[in-house]
Amino acid sequence: MKRITLTRFLIDEQYNRKAVPADLRLLIEVVSRSIKAISTTVGKGALAGILGDAGSGNIQGEAQKKLDVIANEILLEANEWGGHLAAMASEEMEGPHAIPHRFPKGEYLLLFDPLDGSSNIDVNTSVGTIFSVLRCPEGVTTPTESAFLQPGTAQVCAGFAVYGPSTVLVLTLGAGVHTFTLDRELGGFVLTQQHVQIPADTQEFAINMSNMRHWEPPMKRYVEEMLAGKTGPLGRDYNMRWIASMVADVFRILTRGGIFMYPRDNKDPSKPGRLRLMYEANPMAMIIEQAGGAASTGRERILDIEPSALHQRVAVILGSKNEVERVVSYHRVVGE
Ligand code: AHG
Ligand code: MN
Ligand code: MN
Repeated sequence: MKRITLTRFLIDEQYNRKAVPADLRLLIEVVSRSIKAISTTVGKGALAGILGDAGSGNIQGEAQKKLDVIANEILLEANEWGGHLAAMASEEMEGPHAIPHRFPKGEYLLLFDPLDGSSNIDVNTSVGTIFSVLRCPEGVTTPTESAFLQPGTAQVCAGFAVYGPSTVLVLTLGAGVHTFTLDRELGGFVLTQQHVQIPADTQEFAINMSNMRHWEPPMKRYVEEMLAGKTGPLGRDYNMRWIASMVADVFRILTRGGIFMYPRDNKDPSKPGRLRLMYEANPMAMIIEQAGGAASTGRERILDIEPSALHQRVAVILGSKNEVERVVSYHRVVGE
């Protein structure tokens, strides 16, 4: 098979398919270089003294791991001077990060979850990076939080990396989903799957079952029906997987189908869900939809949500279309 590098793929998208403007192509190249750097750092593990807590907390009251901080710095540093961005925002920073005046500015906004699945770092299980690209609103020269508050449908690009047995990069520019694998010897990403399609049906679900007592009735009903197996109302046996790294769970779904749920629960009424809309749910929802799947909160399409805050949380139900639609239909049942 002819090897198509990420660079070659993006150039082809720009010149032959007119699917990506030059500055967005260069922005993606810079993001992919940061991902390569994070992958190398993650791979060193205990040898580089990068495991464990950073001793600090982020704006969301979560303890930061050393790698959360390192990955955030790698992304900030690499993307600051490229000239393609107006500002950046991250899970690990309270507000937008402005591009320093000494560097040229561009017309895009980059949002990221630098290290997804932080609880897995120290136990040597897959982690990843998620990112989303928006256009900076016209006339805005110093983007504040409000410039970022655009619905997921406005994303011009979304992607994520998984630092697993191999490092993979999943990318969409709004015309299908493509997967690249890092060639560690040559130091570049190579196209390994084009136009990924998620099967519409699945018998595999991913949810943190320990939260069951906090879920709303439609979610309890769905999971109980799956657990009932062949003799239950769904008439078939289901299998369960939960990696506790959304990147790894979503990559599995892109590979062989499945449904991923981090539903709304009543553990803490101030938080409608665990995952963050702007840099977790939206990019993943765009990728899943572009691969033929569906992504909903149970009540509305994730990509249609009008955001109200940079770090707002949201319920996430995504993956194989027919199962996601089943969960949505359970939410519609009167009284639930
Ligand atoms: P992050 O490490 O960026 O905070 O995100 C972790 C997320 C997501 O990757 C995963 O699906 C979920 O949190 C795991 O949550 P539980 O620990 O509640 O299972
Ligand atoms: Mn995350
Ligand atoms: Mn994170």
